[in-house]
This record gives sequence, structure tokens and C-alpha cells, in this order.
Amino acid sequence: MNMIFRRMTIEDVPAAYEIDVLSFSLPWSERSIRFEVSDNPAARCWVADIDGRLVGVLILWMIVDEAHIATLATHPDFRQQGIAKILLVDSLNCAYKDGAKSAHLEVRAGNKLAIKIYKDFGFEIVGSRDGYYKDNNEDAVLMTLNQLPVRLPIIKIPLEEI
Ligand SMILES: CC(C)(COP(=O)(O)OP(=O)(O)OC[C@H]1O[C@@H](n2cnc3c(N)ncnc32)[C@H](O)[C@@H]1OP(=O)(O)O)[C@@H](O)C(=O)NCCC(=O)NCCS
Repeated sequence: MNMIFRRMTIEDVPAAYEIDVLSFSLPWSERSIRFEVSDNPAARCWVADIDGRLVGVLILWMIVDEAHIATLATHPDFRQQGIAKILLVDSLNCAYKDGAKSAHLEVRAGNKLAIKIYKDFGFEIVGSRDGYYKDNNEDAVLMTLNQLPVRLPIIKIPLEEI
């Protein structure tokens, strides 16, 4: 697999939106992705590209010395090939070079797979927001990683233990 990790361009926005729609029950609008790429100086919009096809997206916001992961998704046809792991490692390590000392995110309480991946990277659950997701009133779990830079996980938590 010949994967390139690179910044998202305006031309990538429709394909990034497609991945978002295929991945989330409450996807971002195409307009909001375009805003992040072109008008938000705090945003770092990253993509995974295989032979010119967009297969993964990660957007984070740099807020002083914190990296906030706003969204992460892999195209359904390309899952379980390590794309999310590479997006996480490379984007967080770029954020570290940019001055980030910690990383933060929120995720649906029922998204065990994502929580497992974040825990494998060393993120810890630090709180929750009751009924945060408006489509089904699901709680958000807040996770923090206090140690940057990151490496690919060696020890992995079984999904059943989440
Ligand atoms: C969560 C998501 C981003 C993972 O993307 P991915 O590219 O398939 O993930 P990776 O292939 O990098 O897998 C990372 C690790 O997760 C685990 N994993 C991934 N998919 C798995 C599955 N279906 N079952 C069990 N473990 C799985 C593995 O431990 C894997 O590491 P390993 O390959 O070294 O064992 C993807 O499933 C997705 O886009 N889901 C919908 C959107 C979402 O939930 N985003 C995250 C919340 S913001």
C-alpha cells in the first residue's frame, strides 16, 4: 500500500465530506470542512491518500499548547489497514512540533472501537458530557493524552475490555 500523509487541500473537500457522510450519523457539512481548510488558522487538516484517492481524514485544532482532535475517519473500503493509526501518529507528532504538549478529544460513549484505538495510544478518559450528541442523546466521553510525541501502539487493549 502506497499511502501518503499530507495536508488537505480545497480540492480534497468533496472527498473528505464523502468519507464523513459514510462514517458519522451527524456528519459535518461540506461547507464546514471547507471553512477548516481555508479559513481557520487553528485547524490542521490532514488526509491519507492512496494513489490519489482520499481514504482517511483527521482534523485537529491547535489551541495554545493543546491539540484537539475534531474528527477522524477512514473510508469504509479502507478500514483495518492501519490508516487511522498513521493519521494519529503523524498528525499528533506534527502538532507536537507545532508546540502541542497534550491532545484532547471527545467521542461517543458507544463508539468502543474508537475509544479502544485512543486508549491504545495512551489517551485516558477524563470526563463526560451527558446527552452531548443530539441525534440520539448519547453521552460524549472526554479523553486526554498528556504525553507527546506518540508512537504506534505496541500493547493493544482487547475491544471486549472497553
Ligand atoms: C475508527 C476508525 C477511524 C478506525 O480506522 P481504521 O483505519 O480502520 O483503523 P486502523 O486500521 O488504523 O486500526 C487501528 C487499530 O484499531 C483496531 N481495529 C480497527 N478496526 C477494528 C475492528 N473492526 N475490530 C477490532 N479492532 C479494530 C486494531 O487494534 C487496529 O490496530 P492493529 O491493526 O494494529 O491491530 C474507523 O473505523 C472509522 O472511520 N469509523 C467511523 C468514524 C469514527 O468512529 N471515528 C472515530 C471517532 S471521532
